[in-house]
Amino acid sequence: MAEREEDRNAVLIEKIRQGELVEDPADMTDEYRENLIHLMMMEADSEIAGAFGYVPWIMKAPNPAEMLAVASIARDEVRHGRVVYKLLENLGVDVEDRVKQFDFTLRVGDQDYLGQQRAGQDQRVNIFYYPIDTWSDFIMFNVLMDRAAGHQLDDVVHCSYGPWRRVMDGIMKEETMHIAHGDTWLKRLGRDPATHDELQTTLNLWWPRVMNVFGRPKTRRNAIYQKWQLKVRDNDEVRQAFVDDVTKAIEAAGLQVPTWIPDWEQVPEEGQAAG
Ligand SMILES: [Fe+2]
Ligand SMILES: [Fe+2]
Repeated sequence: MAEREEDRNAVLIEKIRQGELVEDPADMTDEYRENLIHLMMMEADSEIAGAFGYVPWIMKAPNPAEMLAVASIARDEVRHGRVVYKLLENLGVDVEDRVKQFDFTLRVGDQDYLGQQRAGQDQRVNIFYYPIDTWSDFIMFNVLMDRAAGHQLDDVVHCSYGPWRRVMDGIMKEETMHIAHGDTWLKRLGRDPATHDELQTTLNLWWPRVMNVFGRPKTRRNAIYQKWQLKVRDNDEVRQAFVDDVTKAIEAAGLQVPTWIPDWEQVPEEGQAAG
C-alpha cells in the first residue's frame, strides 16, 4: 500500500531530528531530494565557474611560484565540482548532459551589479558571474569568496545527507589554503603604500557582491532547508560569522571594512515607492 507523501515526510523529519543521517536515495522523499539536489547543484556549478574564473590567472600570475599556486587552486575547485557532481549522479542527475548546456565562463561587465539575480541559467552563486580582471580581484576572491564559501559549507558539515557531509572534510581543508593564500597577499599589498589604495578600491567593489551571496534573512526557502537539516543556520547568521572572521583579515592588512546596506533595507527614493 502506497504511503502518503505527507506521512513519509513526517517520518523522515523525525529520523533526522533523532540524529540519523540519510544515506540511501531510496529513503528520501521528493521534497528532500529536490532541495538536496538544488543545494548540491549550486555548489557544484559554483566550483566549476569559480575554477574557470581562476584559470586565466595561471598565465597572468606575477611569477612562477604564483602560477603554480593559481594552477593548484584551480585544480582544487575542479576537484570539488567533480566530487559534488558525482554525488548528483548517484541521485540520477545526468551531469554530463547538464554541464554541456551551460557556459561556465560566462561573465558580466566589471561595473554591472546583479544584486540577488543570476546572469545565466546555471545554478552558480551569483558572485561567480563577476569577472576577475586584475591580480587584486584574484586576491580579493580568495579573501572574500573562498572564505564565504567556507562559512556556507560549515553548514554542510552538519547536514543530514551522509555522503555530502563526508566529502566536506577534504574540501574545507583546501578552501582554508585558498583563504590563507589570499590573506598573505592582502597583507602584502594592503601594507604597501604603492598598492594600498587600489586594494581598498577593489575591496569596496567586491564587498556588496560577497555580502549578497548569503541571501536575505529568514526566507521561506531557508526554513525548508533547516527543516530537512540541509542547512543549520539562517542566512544572516552565516553572513555575520563571515563578517566577524574577515574583518580581522581586512584590518590586519591596514584596510577598512566597507559599509553595506542590504538591498532589502534600502529606502526607495522619493517617487519610487510603490503604492
Ligand atoms: Fe571550492
Ligand atoms: Fe576555493
